[in-house]
Amino acid sequence: MPVPREEYLSSIWKDGIFDNKVLFCTGGAGTICSMQVRAFVALGGNACIIGRNVEKTEKGAEDIATVRPGSKVIGIGNVDVRDPAALKAAADRCAKELGGIDFAIAGAAGNFLAPINQLSSNAFKTVMDIDALGSFITAKACLPYLVESAKKHTNTGKQYPNGTGGRMIFISASFHFVGKPMQAHVMAAKAAVDQISNSIAIEYGPYGITSNVITPGPISGTEGMERLGRSDPESVKASKKGIPLGRWGEVKEIADATVFLFSEAASYQNGTVMVVDGGQWRTSGAS
Ligand code: HXC
Repeated sequence: MPVPREEYLSSIWKDGIFDNKVLFCTGGAGTICSMQVRAFVALGGNACIIGRNVEKTEKGAEDIATVRPGSKVIGIGNVDVRDPAALKAAADRCAKELGGIDFAIAGAAGNFLAPINQLSSNAFKTVMDIDALGSFITAKACLPYLVESAKKHTNTGKQYPNGTGGRMIFISASFHFVGKPMQAHVMAAKAAVDQISNSIAIEYGPYGITSNVITPGPISGTEGMERLGRSDPESVKASKKGIPLGRWGEVKEIADATVFLFSEAASYQNGTVMVVDGGQWRTSGAS
């Protein structure tokens, strides 16, 4: 069943703003990232999504491609973000088949809830490796292509005759802003993700590249929320009380933030963390 456009994209965006542009996205078959990619493809782009599971990734790419006739969406499965050679091969294949990489999203994550006394060193290391090191490896694989893309686009905030390009987004979390139980590994990993993005913003800004973080709050229908619901149903029930807007977010709200950061409108956003959580982290400890 095709996903109605209003479920992944606001109507304010102009069709064609990502014409002939290419997005590389890890974790692109997951609930949040697949909607980010869908929005990008709907607005004219082509994409390559990466995942560990071959069937899920290939099927995810096929589904995304249905949003716009003529779009090209490649799904490359059997790629683990902890493997630098596999990521480099995937980025090279994306560039070869789609003509470059203009935008990248480091979205792959592997998380679970566990108190420190039940968290083995290997469990901690696994999440650090997937979330933090995996984001670094993704960036390293894409940055040479993003530099090439940035040469064709200006990030001066003036005119964009060739559209935008040379932009990177990391998907993080807000747990480490305030502290949460059972998430020592996630907090450590996502704090690292934020700082990797900041370092790229500083070191690659002179090349015209921007690097920013999107921090989703509780988003309906995601694997993260389902896992939380299974391991800690009471905290899920209570969570809406701690959100000033009184509701969970929608995947569309993350996709819209993504389109903004990749668009001409975000020409001066670099090294920022865009928190999309209804104000939840501001109230932590209050609920
Ligand atoms: C304690 C756990 C655990 C759990 C795994 N481990 N699950 N420890 N509680 N629930 C431990 C294992 O015992 C092992 O340690 C170590 O972690 C590695 O486990 P493996 O299964 O060998 O690792 P791997 O196959 O690489 O699996 C990675 C994973 C898994 C992170 C553990 O959950 C996964 O693949 N998840 C992918 C999908 C996902 O997590 N999506 C959520 C994204 S949402 P020992 O010591 O036994 O060797 C999100 C938002 C935040 O990121 C949501 C917060 C909940």
